[in-house]
Amino acid sequence: MVRQAGKQSSGTARLVLLCVGLLGIGLVADLFWASSSRFDPSLSISNNWSPRFSNATAFLLPSNSNQSHESPSNHKDANVEEKSKDKRVLSATYADLPAPELKWQKMAAAPVPRLDGAAIQIKNLLYVFAGYGTIDYVHSHVDIYNFTDNTWGGRFDMPKEMAHSHLGMVTDGRYIYVVTGQYGPQCRGPTAHTFVLDTETKKWRDMPPLPVPRYAPATQLWRGRLHVMGGSKENRHTPGLEHWSLAVKEGKAIEKEWRSEIPIPRGGPHRACVVFKDRLYVIGGQEGDFMAKPGSPIFKCSRRNEVVYSDVYMLDDEMKWKTLPPMPKPDSHIEFAWAIVNNSIVIVGGTTEKHPITKKMVLVGEVFQFNLDTLKWSVIGKLPYRVKTTLVGYWQGWLYFTSGQRDKGPTDPAPRKVIGEMWRTKLQLNS
Ligand SMILES: *[C@@H]1O[C@H](CO)[C@@H](O)[C@H](O)[C@H]1NC(C)=O
Ligand SMILES: *[C@@H]1O[C@H](CO)[C@@H](O)[C@H](O)[C@H]1NC(C)=O
Ligand SMILES: *[C@@H]1O[C@H](CO)[C@@H](O)[C@H](O)[C@H]1NC(C)=O
Ligand SMILES: *[C@@H]1O[C@H](CO)[C@@H](O)[C@H](O)[C@H]1NC(C)=O
Repeated sequence: MVRQAGKQSSGTARLVLLCVGLLGIGLVADLFWASSSRFDPSLSISNNWSPRFSNATAFLLPSNSNQSHESPSNHKDANVEEKSKDKRVLSATYADLPAPELKWQKMAAAPVPRLDGAAIQIKNLLYVFAGYGTIDYVHSHVDIYNFTDNTWGGRFDMPKEMAHSHLGMVTDGRYIYVVTGQYGPQCRGPTAHTFVLDTETKKWRDMPPLPVPRYAPATQLWRGRLHVMGGSKENRHTPGLEHWSLAVKEGKAIEKEWRSEIPIPRGGPHRACVVFKDRLYVIGGQEGDFMAKPGSPIFKCSRRNEVVYSDVYMLDDEMKWKTLPPMPKPDSHIEFAWAIVNNSIVIVGGTTEKHPITKKMVLVGEVFQFNLDTLKWSVIGKLPYRVKTTLVGYWQGWLYFTSGQRDKGPTDPAPRKVIGEMWRTKLQLNS
């Protein structure tokens, strides 16, 4: 059950504990608000972001620069390079992949725009939590989208002590477990507070706090235990490898303390995490994130080096992490950007590696499918725009996404506007 639990897949639903929470999505910061871009549009040659031509667009790169895409975070070089006279052609919308066109239908927008929010689907309802409205304002309530009549409603408050972004979140189909996360706007510190929401009574209860707080850890229910792993450590940047679990039943912890489990091979926040056919999967993510500027009274976000990756890890009976085929490209900020449909996880948008020249964050405009039986990845479609920290649901043949932060336009994949828009497309997967 879990995030999905559509009726069409009641069998699947039992197998899938969905959840995940990724919460975080981060990177809000400078880019978020800096409305004026350092990116010089004159350098970009046309690009209509058409699927067939997406890799044929051009960007000018100095020919005497042999820098790798993973070059260190010396942002200043970007300006120098942009001004360089001697140029050659490189892919413009960095790393857009060829993908089929999908027909998207615009639905009613969410009551508020949200970046780094969290979402859980239970049957025909999508519960949407928290998130930044602006870098200086965070939401502390829940909105609900009803897939049956395609309307928003049912707003209610979160507990005062609950984190506002970078949450870990998962459901068993009735109770929603809410783990740790960032408390407050900008790049404030995390809380270890953990809660459970009974969606039938709308009542919240406390749970034992995590041993230490984390930002956007991978979170799932598996074999009767709430698992929490990875994420960023207390400074928001350093990847955590720790993995804990707590036995839970019907919205209650049935142990007093979290238990240490096998650490995850690679740490960091903003990953998709699912349980399917009794196996636990952790997909994508990043190492590093924005941090609070030292001494800033408002904990102003300041950008740090990040590495986005495409790694996929799986735990089964052996309780040893196995490495599975990687995503078609590195992808992060996808903790609530997925749905389980038939035997696949479908992932919507995200962020990929930074632009090789401008070093700016690059958003993802594709929908990915990972067939959990065949372990094959495919790129199954294009989004209306590139967008990160989407909140995704699936209901009766329709794939929905809402919220997040979208790109500056077809020719500029850097993040700009925080959105509340809701879109859907009719999904048809190949098996
Ligand atoms: C675009 O991508 C396709 C598929 O990967 C490839 O066959 C084609 O050569 C690429 N075109 C350009 C101009 O790079
Ligand atoms: C750039 O790298 C290529 C291939 O590694 C090499 O052949 C070329 O000489 C390098 N150019 C410069 C300017 O370093
Ligand atoms: C969702 O919409 C349907 C159709 O209008 C309605 O019957 C149902 O009560 C709604 N669910 C909730 C929880 O509001
Ligand atoms: C899921 O599988 C069923 C049965 O094979 C099929 O009819 C349906 O179209 C599939 N759903 C999607 C979204 O592809």
